[in-house]
Parts: sequence; structure tokens; C-alpha cells
Amino acid sequence: MNMNNTKKSRILVIDDEVSITSSLKRTLELSGYQCDTVNCGKDALRTLREKSTYDLIITDIRLPDISGIEILDIVTVKYPFLPVIVITGYASIESTKEAIRKGALDYLPKPFTTGALISAVNNALKSSKKRNQYKNLYEIVYQSNCMEEIMDMVTRVGRAESTILVTGESGTGKELIARAIHRNSRRSTQQFISVNSGAIPEGLLESELFGHIKGAFTGAVTTSHGRFHVADGGSLFLDEVGNMSLAMQVKLLRVLQDGEFSPVGSSDVVKTDVRLIAATNMNLEQAISTKTFREDLYYRLNVIEIHIPPLRQRTDDILPLSEFFLSRLAGSEHSRKLTLSSNAVSALLSYHWPGNVRELENTMERASVLCDSEQVELHDLPDRITYSKEDFPEQTPTAEHINLDSLLNSIEKHYIINALKKSNGNKTSTAKILGLKRTTLLARMKHYNIQRDTGKNQDE
Ligand SMILES: Nc1ncnc2c1ncn2[C@@H]1O[C@H](COP(=O)(O)OP(=O)(O)OP(=O)(O)O)[C@@H](O)[C@H]1O
Ligand SMILES: [Mg+2]
Repeated sequence: MNMNNTKKSRILVIDDEVSITSSLKRTLELSGYQCDTVNCGKDALRTLREKSTYDLIITDIRLPDISGIEILDIVTVKYPFLPVIVITGYASIESTKEAIRKGALDYLPKPFTTGALISAVNNALKSSKKRNQYKNLYEIVYQSNCMEEIMDMVTRVGRAESTILVTGESGTGKELIARAIHRNSRRSTQQFISVNSGAIPEGLLESELFGHIKGAFTGAVTTSHGRFHVADGGSLFLDEVGNMSLAMQVKLLRVLQDGEFSPVGSSDVVKTDVRLIAATNMNLEQAISTKTFREDLYYRLNVIEIHIPPLRQRTDDILPLSEFFLSRLAGSEHSRKLTLSSNAVSALLSYHWPGNVRELENTMERASVLCDSEQVELHDLPDRITYSKEDFPEQTPTAEHINLDSLLNSIEKHYIINALKKSNGNKTSTAKILGLKRTTLLARMKHYNIQRDTGKNQDE
């Protein structure tokens, strides 16, 4: 029971029999929960859309309009953190199995006792709390299985001394992983030095890495230590290693092989004890085949490769990361912690994130500035995210067969629906977004049979 909790857990009960919903409501409220009830699927979906603050759904499988299974389908996509318990009558093993397969957390066969109900509710709420708690190790937030494996790897390789190559698209978190490896190594009390070889002009990179002596080149008025010297005893992170010239690659190979280098303008040999962690968003094997990257250096660097998949291939991380960024922003200049509306969640999950985690981080920062309520809505997200590629009509024109009228109609319908969603069903703002008169919008909605309640509010 959660009598002692300051915030009562909220449960939505869906069953077509009023006697059942009211008895469940009584029992749950007596046990300290807050409970709303609805008697058909449509009402359930509307209530979820309007409130979306529930902690648990208990639904009958057999409903007069939309089945409990269909509700499950929608909930698992739109509210992935919301647990569902199904009530199964008629001892239907098949539909129970289907419900579990579709993501129901538990089932209650009718008739059930108060004890069975409360214990199922307690378990579901406990497990959903766990699901909501993302993992955060060294400020790296994740929930996907592939990131779990990467983090295992980070803890294991941290202690080894081998050179590591971190690969992945821009913004996937390569530098963050490199820092985590350093923090988890015996070098953690020493320096972590980061050099972006792609951002430093070719002529300066050598001196940046290895230092120079006074008079080595015009402008070298004093002797200067390079990054390999400063990082001695610690770790050096070399970003965009794929962009290095072949001449620099030879020098880098020497440090890796012999632990020594010579500053620019000097023939002295300087010893250094540095662990190198290199990163690239390039395909180095391809660069080897075009002779722009040395094969021997590649094998030296790639003793252990950690590949971070793009965010679109680990969608389980999108919501935990969004939550994390929103909490972090709430802790800084913004005092309140924002939540995500169900429509915003759907948009974030279906977008392809070409800029990966960096793009998500910027998106949350932008949303927290624009958002004027407690909840991030679709209109707080950039257009490219709310009008995602997948939203576009299926029909692609081919040379042999184009039904232009139907194609244009489907595009128009699609834009109207999206604009309605974006403005939470407000017809005046929708008309404004689309550059239409309000009456024209209403006529087209009627023509395309678009529901008046598309979006959140019934009407303005
Ligand atoms: N799993 C994660 N948890 C929290 N923050 C993350 C995560 N992954 C990336 N970030 C954040 O995203 C941003 C980009 O990460 P990072 O600079 O490590 O990416 P990168 O792969 O090195 O990018 P680039 O190739 O453009 O240099 C940083 O602000 C980082 O803190
Ligand atoms: Mg980087």
C-alpha cells in the first residue's frame, strides 16, 4: 500500500461494466491510490490524451468499442513507461498470452480477490519505477542493451593500458566515452588531455602535439611543451584522427611504438607515458583502401574498438536522455523540471536524429526555453522533428503510375493533421500555420473526414 507516499499513484481503470469499475475504484482508493474510471476504449484514449499523468492502467480485454489489446498497442507506443495490467474474463488463455506478448505487465483472471488486485498493482508500480530509472554512469545516460555492453566494455578496458579507438557518427558521445575510460583507469588522478586534430591546421598540429623549441619556425619565440608532454602519466584523447596527414601519421606511429617523440626543431628524443584514446567518425578501413590512412597505424590504434551506434539505432535511449537533459536544465537556470507530453514523446521516438545525442541535447534546451507550461508540447519542438520523414504519405510517384489527385490529397490531409496536432487541435492556430482561412480549414477537414478532436483540445 502506498498510504505513506506523499504523492498518490494514479490509476486509470477501464471496464465496460460500471459495477466493476466502481468496485475497483473503491478498493483502490481505500488502499491509498487515486483512481479514475472509464467504461469504453474511446473514453480511455481521450482521458489518456488529456491527462497523461497516470502511473498505471488496468483494462478489461473485452470492451464494446476498442479492445484492450488495441489500447495496449497504443499505450506501448505512445506511453512506453506506463505499465498495463489486463483483466481477462472467459478464462481466455489466447488473449492473455497475446496481451503479455504485446507488453502487458501482468493479468488478473476474473474473478479476482482484493488481495490479488493489490499485489498486482504494487508489483506493477514497483517495476515501472525501475523502468523509469535510467542508468547514469560517469554522466553517461543509457538504457539500451548496446549501450549497456559498451559501458561494460568501458569498465573493463579502463583498467587495461591498451590503445582504444572509439568510432561512431558525430554527436554519439565518443569524447564522453573516452573520458569515462580515463576516469575508470589507474591514470584517473592524472590529466585527460583532449586534442581535436580535425580543428587544428596541419602546420600547427605537430607543434601542438609534440611541442617546439625556440626558433623552430617563424613565431616560435619560446620553447613550448606539446600535449604528449603535458599528458605524461595520463590519457590523451585524439579526436578526428582520420583527418591527420600521412606525415603526422608516421610521427604518431612512432609515439605508439616506442613511447617517444621529438619536439619541432629539435633532434632530442623525449620519452612519454601516455595512454592514447583515438576517435573518428570516418570509416578508416575505407581510408586505408584509398591510401589516405596508414594500415600499420590503424592496427596500432585499433587494439580495442568501441563502436557507438547512432541514436536512431538505440531508440531505448531517447526518452531517458531527454529526461536527463530536462532534469539537468531544471537544475541550472530553469527552476522547474519539465515533462514531455505524449505527442512530444511520439515525435522524439520517431525522428531519425542525424545529429545524435548532441542534437537531442540542443532540442531539449530549446524546448525548455520555449515551453511556457509544465509540459513540453509538439510546438516546443523544431519543425524537422514534428514533421518527420516517416509522416510523409506512403505513395511515391513512379513513372508508370501517378495518381496526382490522390497524391496531392494525401499530402494536404497529412499537413492538416500534423498542423492540428502541433497546435493541440486549436483551429485558429492551425489555419494560421497552414496559411488558410479558418472556414477553409473547417471545410477541408470535413472533406477529408478529419476528426474534430485531432490534437488535444476539442476546440478553442
Ligand atoms: N549517453 C549520453 N549521456 C549523456 N550525454 C551524452 C551522451 N552521449 C552524448 N552526450 C552529450 O552529447 C554531446 C555530444 O557528445 P560528444 O562530444 O562526446 O560526441 P562525439 O561523438 O565526440 O561528437 P563529435 O564526433 O561531433 O566530436 C555532449 O554534450 C555530451 O555530453
Ligand atoms: Mg567529439
